[in-house]
Amino acid sequence: MYHLENRMPKTGTTAPLRKNSTKTAATPAAAKNRSKPGGVAAQNSSKPAAPPAAPSGSALEIKDTRTSKTYSIPVAECAIRATELKKIKTDDPNDSGLMSYDPAFLNTASCRSAITYIDGDKGILRYRGYPIEQLAENATFLEVAWLLRHGELPTQQEYDQFVHDITFHTYVHENFRKFLEGFRYDAHPMAMLNSSIAGLASFYPSARNIFDETERNISIIRLLAKTPTIAAFSYRHVKGLPFVYPDNRLSYVENFLSMVARMSESKYDANPVFARALEILFILHADHEQNCSTSAVRGVGSSHVDPFSAVSAGVAALFGPLHGGANEQVLRMIKEIGSVKNVPKFIDSVKSGEGGRLMGFGHRVYKSYDPRAKIVKRLADEVFQVVGVDKDLEIALELERIALADDYFVSRKLYPNVDFYTGLIYRSMAFPTDFFTVLFAIGRMPGWLAQWEEMLLDKEQKISRPRQIYIGLQERPYRSRLTKS
Ligand code: CMC
Repeated sequence: MYHLENRMPKTGTTAPLRKNSTKTAATPAAAKNRSKPGGVAAQNSSKPAAPPAAPSGSALEIKDTRTSKTYSIPVAECAIRATELKKIKTDDPNDSGLMSYDPAFLNTASCRSAITYIDGDKGILRYRGYPIEQLAENATFLEVAWLLRHGELPTQQEYDQFVHDITFHTYVHENFRKFLEGFRYDAHPMAMLNSSIAGLASFYPSARNIFDETERNISIIRLLAKTPTIAAFSYRHVKGLPFVYPDNRLSYVENFLSMVARMSESKYDANPVFARALEILFILHADHEQNCSTSAVRGVGSSHVDPFSAVSAGVAALFGPLHGGANEQVLRMIKEIGSVKNVPKFIDSVKSGEGGRLMGFGHRVYKSYDPRAKIVKRLADEVFQVVGVDKDLEIALELERIALADDYFVSRKLYPNVDFYTGLIYRSMAFPTDFFTVLFAIGRMPGWLAQWEEMLLDKEQKISRPRQIYIGLQERPYRSRLTKS
């Protein structure tokens, strides 16, 4: 990150500085009021997003041709309860009832959630009703973090208190130095982040009291506050640089950049274009409803483990190249392509299946342009005005241009996703490629936490435990195949 240091003109900052006051921790009562149905959230004039209404008494009539019996399954919120299917049985006494089979949850709602709304066909993403475009344009990341958890934007007083609480929990226990120093020089920062976040559980054993609201509150503050510190320390460890402690005078994003890039200056002044770009990228990544990592957090959290352990499962899921790891893969793919003139050949190899997937393209939910990708592309323009356009951006633009005109991608509704341009922005700020997913994880933290808490307080949720269709052998007697008697 020497480059980051060098590329950042010392132009000061446009973001508000964090207050160095000595207020006490935010009362959980306010949070409680907001998270309750009928609390402050319910006073908002905007109505909750309603699915296409089904007339009351709507039902799905199912005729089982095995028995000629007919069943009426209630339909509500565009869904049937999968457990209703259990009633559909043959006369076989061993038949435990019908299941639905849905590998990878292509059409199964695992929860009812009020946090994030996505319309994948129309390219809509909203947090708590607010369009992502408006939040990215106007909000701060911590404002969005508050919004995701509490359902409403914070008042000035709530915001100041929240920023203060986050600011004063950014330090990690000194033993963390030793813990991080135990990693090899070439450890992947996502592996370091994942185990460090799980390790936090050992520093805060009372976090296991997940139904104590005060404990939940402080755990959430700690995770939001310490994740950038751990991420930056991991970076410095890999680079062989001394750890830089948090600076309470700086905003959340500036402080992170300071811990990453500060050398001998008494105060680190981040490039305001980079600081704002990172803030926007964190906002864009803050939540994305029931994606792979969030489902992991909810699934692991449903065992009532502490939030540090639950969230570390999310970090692990995010590491995968089909999820958050895609931003890293986009850059590797671009490097492999090497030049704009090789793009058509590469696209052909993707279409034939030989070249793997076009990383940064396609999405399980978005079947039109990912709204986050549009914002990221604009952001890339702004950042590249500062650092200059390079060969890799030209390759990315050409990939996009060719893919968007090619029937293979068009017919499969494969458009650029959020990861397509984020890697280029991160790299232009001189972040190393294997650090990109860590940046995604910092951004996703408020979403994981809001979803974790929503899951815990949802009376309908139980320990997550899918069914299976057993396709293995029937009972057989044990006969050893070992040769030693
Ligand atoms: N390049 C080429 N072909 C693709 C791609 C791609 N990126 N994505 C999907 N396809 C094809 C796939 O081969 C299949 O074709 P066919 O019908 O001929 O077999 C069809 O499109 C449907 O693919 P799928 O695997 O059934 O789609 P999915 O919804 O299960 O996968 C995805 C979604 C994001 C995993 C996938 O599009 C992908 O692997 N993309 C590349 C990785 C990537 O960019 N991931 C970041 C996702 S956004 C950030 C995040 O949420 O973490």
